Amino acid sequence: MLPTVAWKNNTVVMIDQRKLPGKEIYFKCKNYKEVVYCIKTLAVRGAPAIGVSAAYGVALAAVKAKAKEKIKFFNEMAYAIAELRASRPTAVNLFWALDRMTAKLISIENMPVEKIKKELLKEANLIEKQDIAINTKMAKNGAKLFKKGETIMTICNTGVLAAAGVGTAFGVLNEAHKQGKKINVVACETRPLLQGSRLTAWELKRAGIPFRLITDNMSCYIMSKGFIKGVIAGADRITANGDTANKIGTYMLAVLAKNFKIPFYICAPKSTIDLKLNSGKLIPIEERKSTEVTELHGVKTAPKGIKVYNPAFDVTPNELIAGIITEAGVVRPPYLKNLKKIF
Ligand code: MRU
Repeated sequence: MLPTVAWKNNTVVMIDQRKLPGKEIYFKCKNYKEVVYCIKTLAVRGAPAIGVSAAYGVALAAVKAKAKEKIKFFNEMAYAIAELRASRPTAVNLFWALDRMTAKLISIENMPVEKIKKELLKEANLIEKQDIAINTKMAKNGAKLFKKGETIMTICNTGVLAAAGVGTAFGVLNEAHKQGKKINVVACETRPLLQGSRLTAWELKRAGIPFRLITDNMSCYIMSKGFIKGVIAGADRITANGDTANKIGTYMLAVLAKNFKIPFYICAPKSTIDLKLNSGKLIPIEERKSTEVTELHGVKTAPKGIKVYNPAFDVTPNELIAGIITEAGVVRPPYLKNLKKIF
């Protein structure tokens, strides 16, 4: 398998996650608009992977820009960055990466256009490399939280497919497994788009981590049996007070975990922490199209013409979170005070 997102011969190549687990097909983005398309349609998804893709999207816009004159080149770049910004609203890594690429662009504005192009590509490469290193650190920090033989529940896909390295929550599980802790994983299928069954089960199987797949509505019963010793999820945006937006269904698991006195952890890089927002109530929650709920792989599973709700994320209140695993260590409550300390 190639990396989830890679720069290759002036294109951005991504494994098309819409086709997994059935087919391992790579989508070659020849221009930034195709990167926007891939992010919107979830060919690439997962907060850190979206950030890396957006950074390469900016590099691609620069490399493929027609303008030779600086002012026109900057105009082209502004359009591209604006389109990339509008691709998805919740994962703050998208905006973090675009802000970083914009800051780079501004810092080198006096250079010749051809040199700027090279520098933007270097910056995107650096974002990818740093994400790989951050993933490894988070995995090591998080693995310490779990003991030998424990069974841990997770949701959505937070692995290799969701980041440049080994992932966030999945990285922790993978590290615990590699350390010989003999952990077991319970993976929630994650309706409506099945990131859990299509992607996480695929990754767990490839990594050789013992696991069982469940449908989301089995989580309460399974937790009530007493053998789940922890729940771990990724994040799309964490506000200054620790409120955490993640895949729809995460909040439900956190409430259940509290009920059964199971520790509930979030694992995310610092680039997912949005200190500009004080509360999860301010996080924009993406609403996706109704057919994601009324169809499964194009087959209708509900009557025609009905109305549905399809929020792609929910927000877990900070008081339900036992710890936030980051590359800088495990942050514990009170989050308002302790999250600031790692910046
Ligand atoms: O809609 P998606 O598939 O992009 O949602 C992904 C998630 O919610 C992940 O749990 C989150 O991005 C953290 S992963 C590294």
